[in-house]
Amino acid sequence: MNFIKLKSPATTANVGPGYDIFAMSLGEPYDEFIITLNNTDVIKIDIYGETQNIPASLNDNTAGLAILELFKRKNITQGLTFEINKKMPSGCGLGTTGASASAAIFGLNKLLNLNLGLNELVDIARYGEIASGGSPHADNVAAALMGGFVLIKNYHPIDVIKLEMPEIPVVLAVIRKSQRTTRGFITYEIGQEKLKEQMARCSSVIHAIHTRDIKEFGRAISVDHIAEPVRGAVIPEYIETKLKLLQTGAYGCNISGGGSSVFCICEAEKQDELADIMQKNFKNNSNFIRVIKTKTSNKGVFEVI
Ligand code: HSE
Repeated sequence: MNFIKLKSPATTANVGPGYDIFAMSLGEPYDEFIITLNNTDVIKIDIYGETQNIPASLNDNTAGLAILELFKRKNITQGLTFEINKKMPSGCGLGTTGASASAAIFGLNKLLNLNLGLNELVDIARYGEIASGGSPHADNVAAALMGGFVLIKNYHPIDVIKLEMPEIPVVLAVIRKSQRTTRGFITYEIGQEKLKEQMARCSSVIHAIHTRDIKEFGRAISVDHIAEPVRGAVIPEYIETKLKLLQTGAYGCNISGGGSSVFCICEAEKQDELADIMQKNFKNNSNFIRVIKTKTSNKGVFEVI
């Protein structure tokens, strides 16, 4: 076997209060990938579809960096082409960089019969994220590799668990962030009261998943004192829109990953109405791309046969 075709999904990281430790996989959108091994020692990245000026040089591309990390750790020399059929908007906090890095590592693990465990796959793939946000955060790659809701239990060493999710309807306003990353502006100095609330909400998120209580899940994911204040501040329509979505029946709303996309969760019959609100409220934002109706999914990256 010298080639593999894969699909890797969008993921929404942080899921409210879980900065860098929570993420969940979405049924759509996704990107497609083909890895083809060859007899050279050259690693080449080809990007087509909605290419969006995504860099194809190995050190600037999340998949490229992840492949280099894998080959360094395992002492591998192998020529290959990594083709990315880009369908998802990038730079919007939808985990598309993590989807590429995860597809690369998942696919090479199979093609080269490396038999790496999930924690090691996550640990290698996360190094790809340095190309996008400058930091090897593991949340998006874990959700892309495993599907469902993921909790990073430990960073040193990486230890990740997947919790099966009920299929929850999600509405996403896809909004491109105006700068490459806002991570540098985020502070953990939030004070005791907010810290207590943050910890309580994180616990509540996990409890809600175990009890399959979508309303509790929604309430818990609507609060974040770490990333939301920074990322919400650069979306002029955010606070008003969040309020309107919650008043109209969304169970929860927050910013997806690094932003500036906004997501809400709801009952299926509310999706159209909430999508209309997002469309109307964000249509004059020059970084707004489109509204997507999707669902949480227990499926991560998979091989297309
Ligand atoms: N946890 C990361 C962040 C996710 O908030 O920067 C980026 O998609």
